[in-house]
Amino acid sequence: MSVSTYTQPLTTLPEWQEYVDAIQRAPRTSPTVRIIEAGGLHLDLTGQVYSDEVAIHIEKLLEVRQLSARRAALIDGHPVNTTEGRAAWHTQLRTPRPTVEVAEERKRALEFVRRSDSERRWRNIVHIGIGGSDWGVRLVVGAFGYAGMWRNIRFVANIDGHAVEGGLAGLDPRETLVVVASKSFRTAETLENAKRAIEWMQAAGIHNPLNQVIAITANPKAALSWGLQENQIFQFWDWVGGRFSIWSAVSVAAGLAVGSDVVAGLQSGAKAMDDHFLNAPIKDNAPVQLAMAGIANRSILNYGSLNISAYDSRLANLIPYIQQLEMESLGKSVDLNGELITVPTGPAVWGMPGTDAQHTFFQWLHQGSDGAPVDFIACQNEDHTWKEHHTQLLAHCLAQREALMTGKTYEQAIAECISAGLSETKARELAKHKIHPGGRPSNLIMMRSLTPFALGALLALYEHKVFVQGLVWGLNPFDQWGVEYGKVLTKDITAELKGAPARTPHDASTQYWIDRINSES
Ligand code: F6P
Repeated sequence: MSVSTYTQPLTTLPEWQEYVDAIQRAPRTSPTVRIIEAGGLHLDLTGQVYSDEVAIHIEKLLEVRQLSARRAALIDGHPVNTTEGRAAWHTQLRTPRPTVEVAEERKRALEFVRRSDSERRWRNIVHIGIGGSDWGVRLVVGAFGYAGMWRNIRFVANIDGHAVEGGLAGLDPRETLVVVASKSFRTAETLENAKRAIEWMQAAGIHNPLNQVIAITANPKAALSWGLQENQIFQFWDWVGGRFSIWSAVSVAAGLAVGSDVVAGLQSGAKAMDDHFLNAPIKDNAPVQLAMAGIANRSILNYGSLNISAYDSRLANLIPYIQQLEMESLGKSVDLNGELITVPTGPAVWGMPGTDAQHTFFQWLHQGSDGAPVDFIACQNEDHTWKEHHTQLLAHCLAQREALMTGKTYEQAIAECISAGLSETKARELAKHKIHPGGRPSNLIMMRSLTPFALGALLALYEHKVFVQGLVWGLNPFDQWGVEYGKVLTKDITAELKGAPARTPHDASTQYWIDRINSES
């Protein structure tokens, strides 16, 4: 199989123009229910612009964009991350029969958790990492540890001293394991926070605090020179993107907090979604259809953002998780050839769990001038004993979605006002404020219940969605040069705030604040 690294600019493709035309002709919501079942999830796309004609042009566009060959290259570990010359082989981490090195590290991580459990060691875990080395573990622990765990787990990510102070407060250092998760083992926030945790243990009289530290990294050399022994280091590889690293040993702290069976369940669910992505026909392929609906919303209908409303408090951290996955992957404006992409690409992703979201920003979603497509995520069955809560929660979710899809016309609003007892004149005035445009796009992703398998499938669904969108827009979803640039500037400014001369000139305002902070401190 040969996959070209050349990508023809999207808007020069006749297949793109035909797709755009088909979307513009299609109804705003499907007249009949449109649901795809994948990895145990039900993806309801009824609230998206779609038609038989759109379906045909999706197939044509994906053929010219080489979906089959590029998807195979991803799953077979070819260097699809072209700007860094690496594979993006996270799918390898969740296969039941991975390469020898992957199997070996998986076994070591499992064994570490098993030994810690059988010795009832580590009452407290302090997980130190940021971005992809943090969100996945937070998400899994929030999803499956909400009803209590025998270990306390704290997360320290931000360089803000309050984060590390709060993360360590009240813990007994003698019973604490510090987990330093960093792919590069160079991230300033993580290394600085790890130093603080070690000082905190030293201050409590622990002579060898490093004995209570493990590292998870793709740069074991750096962890070794930091002072750790080989047996304290769990490795992953440069072909695992930071935002995909929950599938690696980065999940150790999650295993300690909520159990290795949860981690295994996540991997099986993700694997089921990988198989679906690889084998399902385009029309019934959940990640592909989710991706194409997103592309229509962003690049044709001009929605600048995507809202995630998860109707499950356990999934509060799903929002930043997907935010990083989508925005770090798709926040690009040039294609693989370095040419400007002339349609808008990755949307801003934002959200909050429902129903809190309804009382915070849903007004804007319903009647604001822009609006945003919404991914509603919910569980059909509850895992608690308050059935009434769950019935009401689901009702809220379905009702919001219905309102976005169907809207309310002026005439309906007048009739509503009149039946509430208003005069016709008053009804006509008030009704103007009650119009809901409707036809605002949404998806509903329904899980039977929140199992590790279902969450794993859900995360892989979004990962593959992002891959397909990258492929259509023609960009590389696996690098993040924008974040890297910020890191370089931070390094320089940190030195200048400690008195070093400027290496390169700053803009006037940045220089003003550097000078002011230096002169007043
Ligand atoms: O935010 C940029 C980033 O490079 C992410 O991609 C990554 O998840 C995060 O920093 C942390 O990096 P590391 O795991 O190397 O500490």
